[in-house]
Amino acid sequence: MKARVQKVFARLDPKPDALLLANSVDPHLDQSFFYLFDVPAGLFEGSVAIAHPDGELDVISSPLEAETAFEAAKADPHSHVEVVNRDESDPVLKKKLQGVGSVGLNFKELTHDWYVRLEKLLPETRWVDASVGIRNARVTKEPGEIERLRKAAQIGSEVGREIPSLLKTGITELELSAQMEYRMNLHGASGRSFATIVAFGPHGAEPHYQPGDYRLKPGQSIVCDFGAIHRRYVSDITRSFHFGPRDDEMKAVHETVEAAQSAALAAIRPGVPARDVHLAAEAVINASRWKGRLTHGVGHSIGLAVHDGWGYGPKTEELVEEGMAFTVEPGIYLPGKGGVRIEDDIVVTKNGYEFLTTAPRSYLEVPA
Ligand code: GLY
Ligand code: MN
Ligand code: MN
Repeated sequence: MKARVQKVFARLDPKPDALLLANSVDPHLDQSFFYLFDVPAGLFEGSVAIAHPDGELDVISSPLEAETAFEAAKADPHSHVEVVNRDESDPVLKKKLQGVGSVGLNFKELTHDWYVRLEKLLPETRWVDASVGIRNARVTKEPGEIERLRKAAQIGSEVGREIPSLLKTGITELELSAQMEYRMNLHGASGRSFATIVAFGPHGAEPHYQPGDYRLKPGQSIVCDFGAIHRRYVSDITRSFHFGPRDDEMKAVHETVEAAQSAALAAIRPGVPARDVHLAAEAVINASRWKGRLTHGVGHSIGLAVHDGWGYGPKTEELVEEGMAFTVEPGIYLPGKGGVRIEDDIVVTKNGYEFLTTAPRSYLEVPA
């Protein structure tokens, strides 16, 4: 992935002589390793990628993914693979990095254990933080990345359309989340991009709720937040429903969240401060009777990870750029009663944005 290596180096400041990305044990895997070494599957625990300013990439791969690694290197003349057991990679690392003055590391992902090991192995090397440059490279997507995000979003959207048919009195949150994850896999996901959130009634007031054995009752609202992985790229979608009979307040809450999302979407175009996207949604909610009930940033970048890059909050400094992919997910949370969140994935285009997720988002009352 010569172009990606060069894209990262162009954003590093100061520029190190090499960049090293090291995986530990799942889940402590650095997705930036997979950004530079584009292998569709495998854990690559203990594997290391060393990138050079000229675009060449040396990969020390774990033996468990040797075939996948060699296959990827065959397709990319700038990637060079050696297969080494992770407990035996010190001499290879030493050989490759001896005499290299400064090496960039992803301080946000590298484990402390790896850092101590590297310092001991190469005491003369200057280790510099490359995490901001890596993030800034990853945050704007190439067409191939957008296609993977679109497929992951399509899978999520299919399941979003199916949820109303799964709702019935007495189903538990865990049963519904199991059905949703099963269906994502049937539609082609290689897994869920994060632990599925299904929150019935008052549980909907907690944005990162964990589903349990609580049963659905007529008159409750439902928040479902879920996502699929496709070739390592993720989706992140939330749909909220009402299980009849109607509750007038929750219907009005839903309509306000929808208006807030439309306002945020209307603010998206290259060059605008990212915080303006948040502020547009917040202004709609704060002008309603639910002032202050948007309790989180309105979105976050998506890519190889669900929270991939920065969030879109009131203090975000960055500007929106063409090719960025992010969520737009306002919500209103009413402790003790419930919540509504509507979350879509979009990609920024030359003049605005394009939806990646497509499931209906308007108020829907499912008959109990
Ligand atoms: N699924 C977590 C989030 O929406 O950020
Ligand atoms: Mn979500
Ligand atoms: Mn999200």
